[in-house]
Amino acid sequence: MKILVVGGGGREHAIIKKLRENSSVEKIYALPGNGGMADDAVCVPIAATDLEAIKAFALENKVDYAVVAPDDPLVMGAVDLLTDAGLPCFGPSKAAAVIEGSKVFSKDLMRKYSIPTAQYRSFEGLDEALKYIETAPLPTVIKADGLALGKGVIIAQTREEAREALISMMAHGKFGKSGSRVVVEEFLEGPEVSVLAFTDGKTVKPMVSSMDHKRAMDNDQGLNTGGMGTVAPNPYYTEAVAKECMEKIFLPTIHAMTAEGRTFKGCLYFGLMLTENGPKVIEYNCRFGDPEAQVVLPLLESDLLTVMQACTNGTLEETEVKFSSDCACCLIMASKGYPVEYEKGFEITIEDEAKPYVYSAGTRLSPDGRLLTSGGRVLGITAVKPTLPIAIKAAYSLKDKVHFENAYYRHDIGQKALKAYREA
Ligand code: AMP
Ligand code: GLY
Repeated sequence: MKILVVGGGGREHAIIKKLRENSSVEKIYALPGNGGMADDAVCVPIAATDLEAIKAFALENKVDYAVVAPDDPLVMGAVDLLTDAGLPCFGPSKAAAVIEGSKVFSKDLMRKYSIPTAQYRSFEGLDEALKYIETAPLPTVIKADGLALGKGVIIAQTREEAREALISMMAHGKFGKSGSRVVVEEFLEGPEVSVLAFTDGKTVKPMVSSMDHKRAMDNDQGLNTGGMGTVAPNPYYTEAVAKECMEKIFLPTIHAMTAEGRTFKGCLYFGLMLTENGPKVIEYNCRFGDPEAQVVLPLLESDLLTVMQACTNGTLEETEVKFSSDCACCLIMASKGYPVEYEKGFEITIEDEAKPYVYSAGTRLSPDGRLLTSGGRVLGITAVKPTLPIAIKAAYSLKDKVHFENAYYRHDIGQKALKAYREA
């Protein structure tokens, strides 16, 4: 089989490595992929958002199955375009991807179907929003409606900060069109859990839970990033919590999407907060998380391609989705200065011992074949071990076998999870 994977980050590298475990997979094309995954896939320099070029490439190269991993092409309708061209695809349609593409849509969906989430109001006009935040409880959470690379959320501690956030989003176009509508919502507190779930629109099979570390610096200080590291499973996500989430959140969401004529097939990401009033949805994503995929997929014991095809074909109910009882830790090595400003172009060397554990993200190959840094999150290192403390230790010692100038990483990935285990 020939498979095409749209995207070029660490998440896509994790998907590709897992797909390669299936012996019927002869070739994987990554569009555009990245320099560090060249041993695992044929990287083709077509942008993930160039949908017509992706379609033309798939048809020309007689691709059998496509996986669309990032949010942008999904929200733009990549799966519809490829499916209409006769190519079966993993991922939601454009109509279903709106669950991530519009926060106003997802909040209205949760309200309509009584799915637990923060109280909110949505606004299209700046004046009305400004008026509302003069009396809204503080802190207050302001979210751009559309996609904003995970940066469109501002937690305002004061009215002044709330005003500034609204003005920058709605008047100054900080997130472009994404910020022309906003959601202002209640501030929630509690441990956060990421749950990725396979679904064919009827059945939902959650993957092992995980914990992201979104802030740039140790002890959750600094700016929000795409994610600086992950561990799986998440100790806060007990069996009782999982059961409650299935009943009150996962199944109701899948059924709500179908009732709206937007059947969701693919991987649905539930960003949850475990509040004292029960689990609530912080956000939905219409795709695998990055770097959640880098800890969850290595723990998958079932064949990924088979499970993905079952989501596409509507046969997930009878398809086994099994996870190992091991623990995983992914440590992101970033460029110093990420997520603001950073230098690129430094040579990366990875000692042989570490190579199998590296998921490459912001990397490219120089014309003479050297691997260079080319982005903020450069690569992730995932260790899988029988217990979390050993997995964390292993990820950090593998880091010493990966070298590039200006490397930056957090020192405390997994520490919050260890604390939760100790207190349990
Ligand atoms: P999001 O991009 O929606 O995942 O939001 C980024 C981060 O902001 C989340 O991981 C939370 O830590 C935080 N956040 C978002 N919404 C809320 C909320 N209603 N209350 C408290 N924190 C929030
Ligand atoms: N790691 C969070 C995300 O993928 O959105």
